[in-house]
Amino acid sequence: MTKLYIKTYGCQMNEYDSDKMADVLRACEGMEQTDKPEDADIILFNTCSIREKAEDKVFSDLGRVRALKQSNPNLLIGVGGCVASQEGDIIVKRAPYVDVVFGPQTLHRLPQLIAARRASGEPQVDISFPEIEKFDHVPTAQATHGAAFVSIMEGCSKYCTFCVVPYTRGEEVSRPYADVMREVENLTGQGVGEITLLGQNVNAYQGETEDGDTVDFAFLVKAVAALPGVQRLRYTTSHPREMSQRLIDLYETTPKLAGHLHLPVQSGSDRILAAMKRGYTALEYKSIVRKLRAARPDISISSDFIIGFPGETEADFEATMKLVDEVGFDASFSFIFSPRPGTPAAEMADDTPYETKLARLHRLQARIAEMEHQVGAAMSGSVQRVLVESVSRKNAQELAGRTQNNRVVNFAGSPGMLGRYVDVRILPGTLHTLRGELVMQP
Ligand code: SAM
Ligand code: F3S
Repeated sequence: MTKLYIKTYGCQMNEYDSDKMADVLRACEGMEQTDKPEDADIILFNTCSIREKAEDKVFSDLGRVRALKQSNPNLLIGVGGCVASQEGDIIVKRAPYVDVVFGPQTLHRLPQLIAARRASGEPQVDISFPEIEKFDHVPTAQATHGAAFVSIMEGCSKYCTFCVVPYTRGEEVSRPYADVMREVENLTGQGVGEITLLGQNVNAYQGETEDGDTVDFAFLVKAVAALPGVQRLRYTTSHPREMSQRLIDLYETTPKLAGHLHLPVQSGSDRILAAMKRGYTALEYKSIVRKLRAARPDISISSDFIIGFPGETEADFEATMKLVDEVGFDASFSFIFSPRPGTPAAEMADDTPYETKLARLHRLQARIAEMEHQVGAAMSGSVQRVLVESVSRKNAQELAGRTQNNRVVNFAGSPGMLGRYVDVRILPGTLHTLRGELVMQP
């Protein structure tokens, strides 16, 4: 059996795509995955270009595997993902030992690209955007341990001025409604109870039905939650501009919808939000959160922040801190602005010193960490229903599960519980990752 090694950079979309690459190569070439690059017959890098650092890592990692080609001349090296999509042929020029270059929308063509590389001896590059074709050519997902992602749309058409995604992944394309429902039913048939609907902007979903109508994201969420095999439902990522009242209302009427929402805000300053082209004001964002809390009082909200966007003043940053205090976030991601070639923000004048940006980032992160700890402390003593997803990363005697508000809990238990829902009491004194103890099942 030939072996495949995949290294994944970046977001959950990339994690999902890496699984699909493995599925495609397992189905067509009978390949098995390995975690040792030196054992592999094919090495794939699934790259990310959202920030400069992620992009730089790829070329240094590529340099490292180059040496493996000397001991194994049949080894093939492939580069996929967003760096591949943006750079295309340039990758082969810079690293001529790379055999195939493919984008997020052409990963299903890997077997053909590999065959063409073997037949011609020439590197193959395919970074086109053949719409939704990918979904029709990837084998059905195999579920492990009770939770699964289902991709419902690809790409993004928002064109925030700082972001490369619309250029690397293409514009928003939704997967047909019946296909999504079929995949969810297939997964629940394999015993999966927890589904995460996945996309760059899931709430922009516009799925075509078999009779030619279009349904929106709220309709899809309601339909998936109504399937008897689905016990808990999540989605990521959503855009504030598309939080419709119908979607918000589902937090009141649909208990299966998990009480956690990742809703990227980026900044609390209206001036910066406009320069980012986000399409909402701080007040509008806060009003969405207020409505969400009216529908589901204990909902936990996490977010993304960009610090040091070109022209961000001290007053702009204070507006972000004020928004953080007013909203109250749990577990957020924050980054210093990274100028991405080809995006409008990369051309904007930026005179804030890096040290100032770093100090602002640290202030924001400290404040959010405090809030995160408060949420954890408030959960202490409560009994939480968690899906047992894995053996704990730190201690092989322990299991790890995810609460409905998206916190990981470690607790002692037997591997026979993997994939099942259990009740766990949260122990006091825990911070980011919670500790708990099993509660006897009735
Ligand atoms: N769809 C999401 C939304 O509604 O905003 C964003 C997806 S983006 C792939 C993930 C996060 O990366 C963004 O929310 C943003 O905070 C961060 N990001 C994107 N471009 C960036 C840049 N040029 N510099 C720093 N962070 C960036
Ligand atoms: Fe990027 Fe904005 Fe879309 S952050 S992924 S262009 S919503």
